[in-house]
Amino acid sequence: MIATAGGSEALHIALEAHVGAGDEVIIPDPGFVAYDALTKLTGAEPVPVPVRDDLTIDPAAIEDAITEDTAAFIVNSPGNPTGAVSPLADVEAFARIAREHDLLCVSDEVYGRIVFDGEHRSPAEFAPEQTVVVDACSKTYSMTGWRLGWVAAAPERVERMLRVHQYVQACASAPAQYAAAAALSGPQDVVTEMVDTFEQRRDLVVDGLRDIGLDVPTPEGAFYAMPEVPEGFVDECIERGVVVVPGEAFGDAGEGYARLSYATATEELEEALEIMGEAYAAVQ
Ligand SMILES: Cc1ncc(COP(=O)(O)O)c(C=O)c1O
Repeated sequence: MIATAGGSEALHIALEAHVGAGDEVIIPDPGFVAYDALTKLTGAEPVPVPVRDDLTIDPAAIEDAITEDTAAFIVNSPGNPTGAVSPLADVEAFARIAREHDLLCVSDEVYGRIVFDGEHRSPAEFAPEQTVVVDACSKTYSMTGWRLGWVAAAPERVERMLRVHQYVQACASAPAQYAAAAALSGPQDVVTEMVDTFEQRRDLVVDGLRDIGLDVPTPEGAFYAMPEVPEGFVDECIERGVVVVPGEAFGDAGEGYARLSYATATEELEEALEIMGEAYAAVQ
């Protein structure tokens, strides 16, 4: 394990240490924006693979996209921007694919503690040699600004990542490491309370979006919802003061969707839903 400057550095060193020019890295589409950018920084080529209609990452689609140049694939559950949680069968399939094709599986688990339905499982349980787990305090403990994350992997992989880490970062800041140790070893009831609150907000947002008339798969984790939206909806929302992100910001397959974050107060969400209802009516 290496303590890193947030999940961002963890993703960076995982990719930089393992892939480079001539390699392909399969990434979820829509997916967290850093996957595409960090892959390109290494000189490798990102290969976006569309998620399923229920927004979960599809192991079969990953396997279909494998070529002789594929070096790695990235999975992310619960997902940003989707909120989708991979079921155990899919997690086992990710591990099998990594083993059978001898690929690196980068498993971004920064939302792993924020799950409402189902359970969070890691491909590292089934393919420990092939998996690099990326995690952080940012989401679980609302410590984004502290910049503290980590990579966990087999010793040879940690050794490779350490070579990158020691030159790009030297070390995660000492105060942040002490704060993370306190967060991880202290009472966890604050996390449970936060997750309960997120679940109530998730229900409020999903019910509200469906009342408006939007189709949205129920997000099972993280704090995002990704409804299908009509053309012009995102602009109408933004003009009315509600910030939603167009799905295509997360990849071509995100077109026709919008990402909403419900990491804000319930009253604000109620107001935002009312405004989104007006925005929807305006583009109908
Ligand atoms: C899926 C995912 N991975 C990684 C990160 C990076 O997290 P950090 O703030 O710890 O760098 C984020 C932040 O939004 C994220 O959504």
